[in-house]
Amino acid sequence: MKKHPVSLTVNTDTYDLLIEPRKTLLATLRDTIGLTGTKEGCSTGDCGACTVIVDGKAVTSCMMLGVSANDKEITTIEGLASRDQLHPIQQAFMDKGGYQCGFCTPGFIVASKAFLDENPNATEAEIRHALGNNICRCTGYTKIIEAVMSAAEVMRNS
Ligand code: FES
Ligand code: FES
Repeated sequence: MKKHPVSLTVNTDTYDLLIEPRKTLLATLRDTIGLTGTKEGCSTGDCGACTVIVDGKAVTSCMMLGVSANDKEITTIEGLASRDQLHPIQQAFMDKGGYQCGFCTPGFIVASKAFLDENPNATEAEIRHALGNNICRCTGYTKIIEAVMSAAEVMRNS
């Protein structure tokens, strides 16, 4: 199948690639670029495990084609921490025990970042609603929400 040229900026690095037209953004990130922090769960847009940020908005990358991300800025879980410091949301998930197996965690953290960047003063109800498309089969959600609320406070005060 004919491949198409795309240019993706992922976590500040630019990748000029040739990809098949039906290849998802998720597969492009994981298989072509090698960033495997973004997880593949359902592949049908229902679990949120594959969430990345595209031009500032949370996107389920299993539902977006790589060619549709041409010339866009993408942030994955690998792009959140600085060289020697976790992002406040990552730190809060660790401090509050917001994960067990961890499979859903990158999606929750990236979705939370996209939401809190736009809604720094969000209430618990608003956070719960914003994360309503992310599924966790382990934690029961309470500690995840506690982690996101804690991170929001840290981000507001930083
Ligand atoms: S793998 Fe994309 S939403 Fe589940
Ligand atoms: S921590 Fe296991 S699915 Fe969420």
